[in-house]
Amino acid sequence: MSIDPEQTQYVFTQAEFERVRTLLYQHSGIKLNNSKKIMVYSRLSRRLRATGISSFQEYLELVEKDQGNEWEAFINSLTTNLTSFFREPHHFPLLHDHVLALEKKPFRLWCSAASTGEEPYTIAMTLIDAFESYTPPVEIIATDIDTNVLAKARAGVYSLERVEKIPKETLKRFFLKGAGKNSGLVQIRKELRDIISFQTLNLLDEQWPIEGPFDAIFCRNVMIYFDKDTQYKILKRFVPMLEPHGLLFSGHSESLLHAADLFKLRGNTIYELA
Ligand SMILES: C[S@@+](CC[C@H](N)C(=O)[O-])C[C@H]1O[C@@H](n2cnc3c(N)ncnc32)[C@H](O)[C@@H]1O
Repeated sequence: MSIDPEQTQYVFTQAEFERVRTLLYQHSGIKLNNSKKIMVYSRLSRRLRATGISSFQEYLELVEKDQGNEWEAFINSLTTNLTSFFREPHHFPLLHDHVLALEKKPFRLWCSAASTGEEPYTIAMTLIDAFESYTPPVEIIATDIDTNVLAKARAGVYSLERVEKIPKETLKRFFLKGAGKNSGLVQIRKELRDIISFQTLNLLDEQWPIEGPFDAIFCRNVMIYFDKDTQYKILKRFVPMLEPHGLLFSGHSESLLHAADLFKLRGNTIYELA
């Protein structure tokens, strides 16, 4: 699809789009296909406006030179952060059973593409239920490459729309309702926020700033953005990050068949070490 020059403020050539794709792929592993040109234009033109830069060429030079703020904003602009509470709900009863079967304290879990926090908070609710305590003996590390979504996750504030599918009883137990200028918003209770540590982590980086082993790793709906080689390399690095009894939870459209030497299916997109 081409971009209508009448509708656009900046020239965005195919070569510039290719440069964006290469930079993003090299740094984050995310592969953008050709159909994403308009999306990229729309997201990055906001950065051009914010920085007062007048062309994509100049903007990309800045990103290439700068390994700091604008580089971070570039990555943050191009990630896709779609998520929801209790997404792929069949995973949570299984996590609950895994916790009970292990009786391990502390139970350590890594949520490796946490986005705006709905996934790690759903995990926290499940663990609080399993241990029947608001201060369960658990450690949840929630990471993402995108620093903007992590800031939202840390705050734990959501619109009522984001929580409308959560049963009333669960809402009451785990959220506080905003009043006055916060009406229309809810906040995750402090007890849940306290058991999660949010950190920036790029799955592509050679060093991960966290230490295993974990009793479970969630890596859901992020592998779809990577090619098979990148997926395999990351999965291989998950192996020593998991306890021998550990489980890997993946997304509904992410088969790990190409890594059958590393992981075998336990059931319904949940894997264990091969
Ligand atoms: C579609 S969201 C999935 C969120 C959640 N796991 C879920 O299933 O609902 C994908 C997340 O992966 C993150 N991501 C993309 N590339 C990444 C990388 N190289 N390292 C870490 N996180 C990455 C994005 O920032 C985004 O928040």
